[in-house]
Amino acid sequence: MKLLILNGPNLNLLGRREPEIYGTGTYADLCRIIEDHANHLGIEVEIFQSNHEGDLVDRIQAAYGAIDGLILNPAAYTHTSIALLDALLALQIPAVEVHISQVDDREPFRRISYIRQACLATISGHGFAGYLEAMDLLVNSEVQS
Ligand code: DQA
Repeated sequence: MKLLILNGPNLNLLGRREPEIYGTGTYADLCRIIEDHANHLGIEVEIFQSNHEGDLVDRIQAAYGAIDGLILNPAAYTHTSIALLDALLALQIPAVEVHISQVDDREPFRRISYIRQACLATISGHGFAGYLEAMDLLVNSEVQS
């Protein structure tokens, strides 16, 4: 099984970026715990971060037929991007939406997620552990199907 993990704008600044909201772990720390968990689960994982909406759309399109599941934290594009929603709807890859912070308890504009309707589940407010929960969820849904 191979999972693709996509991270949107400013997540490369984790550790420096609003640590009271996102914690002090860096983006490299996040990648390391994801890779360790993939090893533990015995699956392959690819992690991609971009600050550009079109790059994320391109990466989703390129994943078609090549991956079994997608974990997405589109960051600010969550709240704005119909293009990401359309890419998910077009390709129908099992996807889980992840947010490090609890978006529903923050500013009202963060309660809107364009991609949610194309995802199996949303995990929000569990910090970096949310990515690992999303991996477990996709692995278990594959086993059951
Ligand atoms: C985020 C929440 C978004 O509202 C914000 O724009 C981000 C990160 C999160 O992981 O909590 O950049 O997706």
